[in-house]
Amino acid sequence: MPAHPAGPRHEDIVHAAAIGEVPHDLNALSPAVWPLTAERVDGVLSVAGVPATDAVAEFGSPLFMLDEKHFRAAARSYAEAYAGADVYYAAKAFLTTRVARWAVEEGLRIDVCTLGEMEVALRAGVPGESLLFHGNNKSVAELRRALEVGVGRIVIDSVTEIERLADLARALGVRPKVLVRVTVGVEAHTHEFIATAHEDQKFGLALAGGVAFAAAQTVASEPAMELIGLHSHIGSQIFDAAGFEVAAHRMAGLVADLVNSGIAVAELNLGGGMGIAYTDDEDPPQVADMAKQLTAIVTRECELAGVPVPRLAVEPGRAIVGSAGITVYEVGTVKAVDLGGRSRLYVSVDGGMSDNIRTALYGADYTVVLANRESVADPVVARVVGKHCESGDVVVRDAWLPGDVRAGDLLAVAATGAYCRSMASNYNYLPRPAVVSAASGECQVMLRRETLDDLLAADAGVD
Ligand code: LLP
Repeated sequence: MPAHPAGPRHEDIVHAAAIGEVPHDLNALSPAVWPLTAERVDGVLSVAGVPATDAVAEFGSPLFMLDEKHFRAAARSYAEAYAGADVYYAAKAFLTTRVARWAVEEGLRIDVCTLGEMEVALRAGVPGESLLFHGNNKSVAELRRALEVGVGRIVIDSVTEIERLADLARALGVRPKVLVRVTVGVEAHTHEFIATAHEDQKFGLALAGGVAFAAAQTVASEPAMELIGLHSHIGSQIFDAAGFEVAAHRMAGLVADLVNSGIAVAELNLGGGMGIAYTDDEDPPQVADMAKQLTAIVTRECELAGVPVPRLAVEPGRAIVGSAGITVYEVGTVKAVDLGGRSRLYVSVDGGMSDNIRTALYGADYTVVLANRESVADPVVARVVGKHCESGDVVVRDAWLPGDVRAGDLLAVAATGAYCRSMASNYNYLPRPAVVSAASGECQVMLRRETLDDLLAADAGVD
């Protein structure tokens, strides 16, 4: 493809300030955000020894590349940090059969929240016993299938569900192990958390007003199921253990109340939410530190309350797969937009909100670099945008890119392993990108790129 003919007028482009310090080296790959095996080889970004240029030549663009070594290392670090506890990989972050296999091989179980996620895990050969089933509105068909395949844990999310599950369990002659999901009045996001008196949201049963206590009592008195424990999940992309601390404190109080009324609580699942760095200036807590803190809090609170310490469980998703994945895009157009004396370079890529909705939906920040070559051109303030018919279709809102970025270049966005492909859509009839796993100098397709035929297959036609 020829270089962009008109080209931006570099002298017009903002060279400073708007988005913080100009980075020392635009070609650098900070280990905080890039996959373990990411490096530049002859200037080209490569993952596990596979140059992004080769991967795109073979599998097309946009392309998700998932670093197997990174995923396994992250999973293993959770399994080791939580030895003596259970770690469930949260499938919603990203799941394929191969991902499920990796997770289980590294000692994790899997948390699923739909029939679809359950079937992918089962197809990978994950035993039903290793699955935990979530959801605020599990259907009868989903619950029946969960019981048929012997799902290890079902998390009860409403009073309605107790009876629904009990009826099914009786009909099938099985006795599922269940946890009651508790809304503890703690909400955590990245650097802050709020503790509120009540929770105005759809998940779980409120600790406040004894709702969760009553539900646990009902479950405990229901012979068709076994109350194995309690569950709470306080949010996602959490950096501060204080939110977990308050949740653990409150949950331990409920454990004590139940135990003191003769109801055993063997497991306490504190959910997921452990944060990762999307940009270099974010500093998430170490897995082992967080594990130590959570274990200490639960132990202390239960000992203070004089009740046996339940077995701990956690459900990380993003913290395992997030930084293992990158997205590679091809640049199609480059446009300098005048902001009244300053300008911004709009760099359009061949994907967008259909493969990464997080920027539009949550205002998420990302790190982006030129992937097919190094550049010594001056940094310019850029915005990486997609190809959708929507001005909110932004991939990276504020980025420093070399001023010579041009059509035909490849850009790589870091930390797109979680909640990008899994939340992808076909908006504007864009086929969803392929996901390849990279290991030992080779890529293997995990999810093939969709084709227009895939999209048209659902169309009933005109006759
Ligand atoms: N357990 C439960 C019950 C959850 O609801 C979630 C995430 C997790 C575990 C895993 O959370 P993680 O460790 O991945 O933060 N789409 C949003 C995130 C939604 C999270 C929903 N629940 C995003 O892209 O940031």
